[in-house]
Amino acid sequence: MGVLANLWRLARTGATFQRTGAMDEVLEALEAPPALRAAARILGWPLAPLGLAGDPALPPLPRALTALGPAYVKFGQTLSTRPDVVGARLAAELSVLQDRLAPFPEAEARAEIARELGAPADELFADFGPAVAAASIAQVHPAVDRATGRKVAVKVLRPGVERAFRKDVDAFFFIAEVIELMLPASRRLRPRAVCRHFAQVVATELDLRLEASAAAEFRANSRDDPGFAVPEVVWNLSARRVLTLEWVDGLPMSDVPAIAAAGVDLRDLSRRVIQTFLRHALRDGFFHGDMHQGNLKVAPDGTLIALDFGIMGRIDPYTRRVYAEILYGFLQQDYRRVAEVHFEAGYVPEGQDLETFAQALRSIGEPIFGQDASRISMARLLSHLFEVTERFGMQTRTELILLQRTMVVVEGVARTLDPQVNMWRTAQPVVEEFMHANLGPAAALRDLRRTATVLARFGPRLPDVVERALRRAAVAGPEPDDAPARLGPALAGALAGAAAAAAVALLL
Ligand SMILES: Nc1ncnc2c1ncn2[C@@H]1O[C@H](COP(=O)(O)OP(=O)(O)O)[C@@H](O)[C@H]1O
Ligand SMILES: [Mg+2]
Repeated sequence: MGVLANLWRLARTGATFQRTGAMDEVLEALEAPPALRAAARILGWPLAPLGLAGDPALPPLPRALTALGPAYVKFGQTLSTRPDVVGARLAAELSVLQDRLAPFPEAEARAEIARELGAPADELFADFGPAVAAASIAQVHPAVDRATGRKVAVKVLRPGVERAFRKDVDAFFFIAEVIELMLPASRRLRPRAVCRHFAQVVATELDLRLEASAAAEFRANSRDDPGFAVPEVVWNLSARRVLTLEWVDGLPMSDVPAIAAAGVDLRDLSRRVIQTFLRHALRDGFFHGDMHQGNLKVAPDGTLIALDFGIMGRIDPYTRRVYAEILYGFLQQDYRRVAEVHFEAGYVPEGQDLETFAQALRSIGEPIFGQDASRISMARLLSHLFEVTERFGMQTRTELILLQRTMVVVEGVARTLDPQVNMWRTAQPVVEEFMHANLGPAAALRDLRRTATVLARFGPRLPDVVERALRRAAVAGPEPDDAPARLGPALAGALAGAAAAAAVALLL
């Protein structure tokens, strides 16, 4: 992409920000010095008419971004999920962005399907209908799979969307560089790193095979979850630019009166939203990272249905255990234990004081538990926790930020269903279930068994290893005859461990 084209995009973006009043907000977020803000105002004023007007009904920043096009909107949406980067106020303002667009023509969707699946759309699908939803990256059509007669939802990427996004993302990097150059203070916000994060998010959404595999994995994990469902992927009708899922009928989650009228128990559904999410995060370490109402449906029998698997979060098993212990500690109001967990996990750098840290944790927990149950928020607890751990020198990790962010959304959805829902009492059984399965004696035995399996794999080589160790010990010692007695405690320990592990492996 030529520098000229990027300069043009920079000028147009700047002028649009100026015209919509978003410039001031952005300069403030970037901590621009007053002189620069004044200069921007003076220089920007004559340029403003060159910018796009946007929709005056929107707040300045969403107004500027919607005027500039889909990639900008998507960028704003992504930033709204990163309050750690743009600050809570801007994140909240950006969260009103929705990328609902006019659908592209059905004929183009059919052409795309033919190209991707290698046969005319009419041969593969019957009753291919007009788009039910259209966003910046893709749109969804209802149809019937001719081979099985099953109703399906066909998600098709917008024609040329990869190229359009690539151009805009290129311009974003250029703008980020310019900002970093002119506003050294902005480097704290790492504009280029933010662009990289965005580019990565978009890249996964631009390949529907990744969404298909996420859906399939999520479905397999949650197969036995009560009252929860994920549509099945129709693999033979899916490719990079087309994703076909089993169609699911249900009421939109946003239509609470209709859900109630259908006879669904709202309190039960509210609890299920929270518990299902937590179970996925803790038990599977694989959770839906975009659980807003538009991506959830409720079947007539009350089953909660998840859609849209473009943003998923992963947490490794170790972090899951640490987090469950932390949540459990908070639930028990055992702040010292929570502090110990942080220290044991190495989350808090050495040299910090355990008691002081526990005190800081109490300052988070007590006010929250002192509140009326309907106002207790787990998401708030997590965000306070991140603040405190950062103060004590720990860096918050991206996967936990996504977890916290999703928890905000999940709590919001749960509250629309049952304003009185008590997050903690709802979370408790899931956390305890996980603790029981992962931290009790049964779990210890399972860990031991896994260790034994690994050791057993070395089985055929063990005699050799032991013999060599013995020989080495013998050579080192002055009296070869009582070499075994001289074995270092480490080797003795290892041998005992191996023997014990072998015994366990045999028993289990
Ligand atoms: N399997 C499905 N069955 C029924 N409707 C679906 C299905 N998948 C998607 N939809 C409809 O299409 C809309 C957009 O799909 P989604 O996957 O959320 O796309 P986007 O990534 O554009 O948000 C959903 O809100 C839902 O109404
Ligand atoms: Mg969606």
